[in-house]
Amino acid sequence: MAALTNIRRSSWVYILLSLSVFSIVRVTAGPPPVETIKFQAPDIFPGGFDWDDKHDRFLLGSTTFGSLFSLSLDGTLNEFVKDSDYAGKFAILGISVDGIHNRVVAVIQDLNFSAPVFSGIAAYDLDSNKRLFFTRLDTVVLKEGEKTLANDVAIDAVGNAYVTNSFGNYVWRVTKDGTAAVYAEDTILTTQPVVVNTSMDFYGLNGIVYHKNGFLLVVQTNSGALFKIDLNDAKVHNVIMRESLPSADGLVLRGDGTLVVVTREKVLLLGSASGWQAANVVGTVVLNSSDFVTSAAMRTSTRTYILPSYSSEIWGGMSRTNFEVREIQFAEEWQEDTPIWLIVVIVVAVLVVTAWRFQMAYFYKQYRRKRA
Ligand SMILES: *[C@@H]1O[C@H](CO)[C@@H](O)[C@H](O)[C@H]1NC(C)=O
Ligand SMILES: *[C@@H]1O[C@H](CO)[C@@H](O)[C@H](O)[C@H]1NC(C)=O
Ligand SMILES: *[C@@H]1O[C@H](CO)[C@@H](O)[C@H](O)[C@H]1NC(C)=O
Repeated sequence: MAALTNIRRSSWVYILLSLSVFSIVRVTAGPPPVETIKFQAPDIFPGGFDWDDKHDRFLLGSTTFGSLFSLSLDGTLNEFVKDSDYAGKFAILGISVDGIHNRVVAVIQDLNFSAPVFSGIAAYDLDSNKRLFFTRLDTVVLKEGEKTLANDVAIDAVGNAYVTNSFGNYVWRVTKDGTAAVYAEDTILTTQPVVVNTSMDFYGLNGIVYHKNGFLLVVQTNSGALFKIDLNDAKVHNVIMRESLPSADGLVLRGDGTLVVVTREKVLLLGSASGWQAANVVGTVVLNSSDFVTSAAMRTSTRTYILPSYSSEIWGGMSRTNFEVREIQFAEEWQEDTPIWLIVVIVVAVLVVTAWRFQMAYFYKQYRRKRA
């Protein structure tokens, strides 16, 4: 009788264990909550943004107004800089917060792409909002009279800004005091096959980031190529990838060393085990291409945010009031947790059941000994 009771009891243990396995898998398998910061601002159409850690706010650049705005986490939007030298005339595209030097750097561009008359960059103090420099880039060119499209910007540790030229397919460097020069040019940057087959096919170099190990990473929208530019010698290397990044736009590096790449259809997470000689896709978040997400920013080392620009609505002559900054999470990250939990729980279950069986065998032996 004692043996029978033990068997019944052990099947109850089995049932309880499977129930707990199920509940733990269910708890960890759901996507974690993400934050959306909504705000209302008629026709602001922001194109670039970055997180200002010191002041706990995002800074956004408007393509339509050519001014900078601050956005707090509760959705409060305030004008940060409206510079009469270009506001109302040209767009702000890429922006980058340089926390070390307490400034924000903004790329300014004439969006009349058939005959742009202005490309430039400006820097403002994060506390006083005062302008630190304002520099023209359309006059700093390789060939007299060439068209320029200043697009995105990255800042190194000493405050140099690196700006991509989407028309010329080279990179300008602008020193901390605002002196500009062509910095990196290479036939690698002008000879990649164009794979994008949309109205965006004239966009060459676009998103750019600075890596603390002394190099830049840059994407090319129309070819989907990723380049590494060594800051020792300004040499350009093609990063080897199994799949290219067509329609790639904004970039941001995460605290764990992975690279977030915004494309029209999806946000990709890239990893590299070779110091960015080669890279591969390790995560994906699918986007609605009509949201026209252009840019990504990190709020902490792990929290990734994207900015829908809804740009195609400007070209369609439409009006919009509702905008947002959206946090994203790569499914590959939180799904990775499930098997680990599962393995831990199964191991514990096996140990418990094995212990039960040993105990039962012991009781059974004793029971037989008593009977004998
Ligand atoms: C763009 O530039 C061209 C050439 O200068 C000009 O004819 C056209 O009116 C401009 N478009 C706009 C919207 O300003
Ligand atoms: C690319 O665009 C061209 C011209 O609009 C068109 O003829 C061609 O079919 C397109 N190819 C693809 C793969 O969509
Ligand atoms: C994408 O966004 C557009 C415009 O807001 C909407 O009409 C469409 O249903 C969305 N598509 C998907 C797959 O959510």
